[in-house]
Amino acid sequence: MTVTAVTGAIDPATYRAVMRHLPTGVAAVCSIDNTTGTQHGMIVGTFASLSMEPALVTFSVMHSSTSWPRISEAGTFSISLLAEDQQQVCKALSAKGQDKLSSVGWSESGWGTPHLHGSLAWFDCRIEQQFTAGDHIVVIASVLAMTPTERASTPLIFHGGSFGGFRETA
Ligand SMILES: Cc1cc2nc3c(=O)[nH]c(=O)nc-3n(C[C@H](O)[C@H](O)[C@H](O)COP(=O)(O)O)c2cc1C
Repeated sequence: MTVTAVTGAIDPATYRAVMRHLPTGVAAVCSIDNTTGTQHGMIVGTFASLSMEPALVTFSVMHSSTSWPRISEAGTFSISLLAEDQQQVCKALSAKGQDKLSSVGWSESGWGTPHLHGSLAWFDCRIEQQFTAGDHIVVIASVLAMTPTERASTPLIFHGGSFGGFRETA
């Protein structure tokens, strides 16, 4: 399936300027190559819960991503939900290039995926569907396992081009 829309209706600069008002969480999508053992990773701000029964999650990936084809090849991947103090992890994984996990602490899960140390929670997922929507690929994955941590930290939040944490208002 490919999703297209009226082209030229909204200019990209306006689209970006308006979408800057929407804060997002920051999630690391990672996998380990089954044959070489090489780790791959990238950051997504589009991660979201899709369905509870069955447990499905979703995110979208730019066509230009070089990491996603490598991550998806494994079929099974992890999502680490980043905490407020993991901005360096976000920087390392959102950079172009390979071997991004070498500067980041992680452990291999029972599902053969990397769990990034210090994260708020981990998901182990299996790809169910991928389809093109405009300049992105929409990924739908089933949740094989979820692991929460007891960290007393707030999530890392991306808003208006900057990073921060969550503060409750009175
Ligand atoms: C806060 C933040 C959110 C991002 N969200 C997405 C996203 O949802 N989808 C995406 O494809 N790339 C997203 N990126 C960009 C990728 O993480 C990353 O820069 C890119 O995948 C690196 O290139 P590579 O895939 O060629 O390794 C985001 C980057 C940052 C810093």
